[in-house]
Amino acid sequence: MPAALAPGIGRLAGRALRYTLVPAERRPEDPSADSVPSQEFHVIDPTARVHASAEIEADVAIGPRTSVWNRAVLRNGATLGAECIIGRDAFIDEGVRLGDRVKVQNGALVYHGVTVGNGVFIGPGAILTNDRFPRAVTATGELARGDDWTVSPIELADGCSIGAGAVVVAGTRVGRFATVGAGAVVTRDVPDYALVAGNPARRLGWVCACGARLVGPTGAKAAPDPSTDARLACPRCGRSYVFNPESGSLLERPASSTGVSA
Ligand SMILES: CC(C)(COP(=O)(O)OP(=O)(O)OC[C@H]1O[C@@H](n2cnc3c(N)ncnc32)[C@H](O)[C@@H]1OP(=O)(O)O)[C@@H](O)C(=O)NCCC(=O)NCCS
Repeated sequence: MPAALAPGIGRLAGRALRYTLVPAERRPEDPSADSVPSQEFHVIDPTARVHASAEIEADVAIGPRTSVWNRAVLRNGATLGAECIIGRDAFIDEGVRLGDRVKVQNGALVYHGVTVGNGVFIGPGAILTNDRFPRAVTATGELARGDDWTVSPIELADGCSIGAGAVVVAGTRVGRFATVGAGAVVTRDVPDYALVAGNPARRLGWVCACGARLVGPTGAKAAPDPSTDARLACPRCGRSYVFNPESGSLLERPASSTGVSA
């Protein structure tokens, strides 16, 4: 364990007494067991590691074996699942829910209205926004308050990755195991397994659940718009997929799985 990171130590933005640990007898033997989801405990699990410089507001839940690093900010009601890593200077806004095994890299900003599935990677400096048409003031010039604007939610589905410095514009969904390239600006929904990059983000191709680029029958990287029923394969782990034109995304072929899960 790094010297600066001790079990269950955290600064609670002046609310030290709100730091509640789960008594051992209330904890499941296996925190990932289906019968007792870790996120039902609105507390900081004793096995979580929170750096002393992190700011943890009220009613935050932190799951087993999750680490929160230097100066990370977890705002009111944020919920982190098991085995997450929250990097230095990361910001997790009010009420944001993270699944299990999520990595939020240094300086990433995850705003209110964002939902993060299991096994999601959020790269350094990435920004997940929540207001599609932002204004500081109302039509009559007063400071805009919470009731004066509408949150446009973002969903990051299980297993997807958001590249370094990418911006995801409010009101979009990034599909399961999709990958957003570094510096991309995502303005539209990203299908499951799609690889997108650029500003605005366009589809470059497709990626496997393991993260590698999928290839077509000739071995070349799969095209952004495969032909109907095209079969795509992963040169790294051997999984295979078929393109479904109705959904515009890929479906994993049965029995091709090698155990990668989000
Ligand atoms: C998007 C990505 C996965 C593509 O990787 P790749 O398959 O090796 O792609 P290539 O390098 O073969 O590039 C293919 C084309 O896309 C372009 N491209 C690649 N990444 C791009 C990006 N992030 N934004 C815009 N264009 C990009 C390349 O310039 C190239 O264009 P060209 O054909 O006109 O020359 C990768 O570049 C990327 O951004 N990964 C995310 C890295 C990251 O943020 N990691 C976070 C942890 S530190």
